[in-house]
Amino acid sequence: MCGIVAYIGNREAAPILLEGLKRLEYRGYDSAGVAILDGGMKIARTVGRVAKLEQRIEELGGYNGTLGIAHTRWATHGAVTERNAHPHRDDEKLGHGITVIHNGIIENHTALRTWLTSHGHLFKSETDTEVLAHLIGHLYEGDLLAAVQKALRQVTGAYAIAVICPAEKNTLVVARKGSPLIVGVGDDEYVVASDGSAIVAHTRQAFMLADGCIAKLSRESFNTVTLDDVPVTPEVRELDIDLAQIELSGFDHYMLKEIHEQPDALRTTLRGRVDSSTGEIVLGGLAGFERELKRVRRIVLMGQGTALHACMVGRMMFEELAKIHSEHDFASEFRYRNPIVEEGTLTIFVSQSGETADSIAALHEAKRRGAMTLGFVNVVGSSISRETDAGVYLRVGPEIGVASTKAFTGQVMVAAMVALWMGRRRYLSTETVTNYLRALESVPSAIERTLQLGDHIKQATSRYVDRENWLFLGRGVNYPVALEGALKLKEISYIHAEGMPAAEMKHGPIALIDEGMPVVFIATRNSQYEKVLSNIEEVRSRGGHVIAVATEGDDHVASLAKETFFVPDLPEPLQPLVTVVPLQLLAYHAAVMRGKDVDKPRNLAKSVTVE
Ligand code: M6R
Repeated sequence: MCGIVAYIGNREAAPILLEGLKRLEYRGYDSAGVAILDGGMKIARTVGRVAKLEQRIEELGGYNGTLGIAHTRWATHGAVTERNAHPHRDDEKLGHGITVIHNGIIENHTALRTWLTSHGHLFKSETDTEVLAHLIGHLYEGDLLAAVQKALRQVTGAYAIAVICPAEKNTLVVARKGSPLIVGVGDDEYVVASDGSAIVAHTRQAFMLADGCIAKLSRESFNTVTLDDVPVTPEVRELDIDLAQIELSGFDHYMLKEIHEQPDALRTTLRGRVDSSTGEIVLGGLAGFERELKRVRRIVLMGQGTALHACMVGRMMFEELAKIHSEHDFASEFRYRNPIVEEGTLTIFVSQSGETADSIAALHEAKRRGAMTLGFVNVVGSSISRETDAGVYLRVGPEIGVASTKAFTGQVMVAAMVALWMGRRRYLSTETVTNYLRALESVPSAIERTLQLGDHIKQATSRYVDRENWLFLGRGVNYPVALEGALKLKEISYIHAEGMPAAEMKHGPIALIDEGMPVVFIATRNSQYEKVLSNIEEVRSRGGHVIAVATEGDDHVASLAKETFFVPDLPEPLQPLVTVVPLQLLAYHAAVMRGKDVDKPRNLAKSVTVE
């Protein structure tokens, strides 16, 4: 996945583009580039972060010009080199200086490259994007919009693109299919970007370009059409982002800020939706689907990474609270099996970004097989939120750190609300629902209490930060939390960590345990507590050092563990909402102590928009 930003207006484009790229850097950060019409086309590209690109442009004497495009890359086709960084232009000799940035994948790029090569085109990079630039150049006959339309009709795959050319100094052409693209509408200017964070400093008015559409923007106006030139009128709306939400606000990293935002974020998730005094749950996104949801006999929750871990917790909630047979699956695996989707199957797609390619592909497969689809998504208006039949937004605000934290607790909270909503319509008594809602409403303050452990967790982490192998163990609802704790640690500190059901350890992984190996147990009081205690003993007797997440006041676990992080008690199905928090902080501190780039870990990108 990559981030793209483009500007046309009357102000200098370079600062707007570079600032926008910094906001989008979480989407990919192995290389960056910018193209600005400054008399002719000026292109600068660098391997590495946007700051390096900024420096390069300064060394080149600065770029002036009020029309430009910029890109931050997460490599898919071609190595991380300056040659492969965007923007790409068409053929030096045969072309017209047409310059393109692109987020997505052109699937038929090999065939197009062969065809263009046979027509004399010489390519300089290994990217699919350069092929698109050449194709547009090949088809250009003095009308950029028409050339882009013709080119895109020959392309298969996903794209969000922005295109400029020296012969049309008042034209920016943008198009999208499958990848996000938002057009910010200012006074005689437009800022286009992969998401609203790069736009909101300039204008709050914006529209998501409709899928399969193309827009021609000039300083004075814009028009939007399909690839076949059918006019489309977009709905301009207010962007749902505050600048404060996307600033660091005194925190050293977005990840730490987002961990600390969880209490307020979850209050927003709950606000106006649940009322423990009446037992009422109002989920606007499910209104009108009551009858279909009542008929559900089986639920399949799907996502990837952290979102999949939330699916695993959700699955247990649907079984426990709604008594519906439930499963979880990697979205990437569901699609390539021959999944059974019988009548009464509900598929739920869980995603922070709503743009994860694996999840979108599984959603298409589920729809093709006739399943009802719901989305538990954070980004409003994202592909999954638009393509599902119904859904419930997480409402946790923008998540910028690559490591997902508040999105996880938001996803679990939404799963709890929907499970209770369905349980209420089946067999759950008002009293049971009311008790659960009271517990849900207590979660934000329970997390607040847990966050006060920050310094203690930091000190405990410092004692183990040099260890290269960690185990994370939990049972029942806390097994997905073990997986999540391990994922957090490995993705930002590059320490090898494995999460697994605590009972599974003795079937092989126990061989890994040696003197001093850190083994993190989620050992809260619940139906599996006694069994977890036995597993703790097994680790201790082999020299492993136990780090435990335990229920407040549980001195017994504390006496067995080298380090204990106490969390407030919650009903069993809701425990992951607090037990995950110490593990988020542990991973954060480990990464900082190891000097890693917490918000932009190597090789990663915030949303993975390729399969
Ligand atoms: O945007 P999504 O929630 O669909 O992203 C899915 C995963 O890529 C994501 O949860 C990933 O595992 C996290 N960034 C890890 O912290």
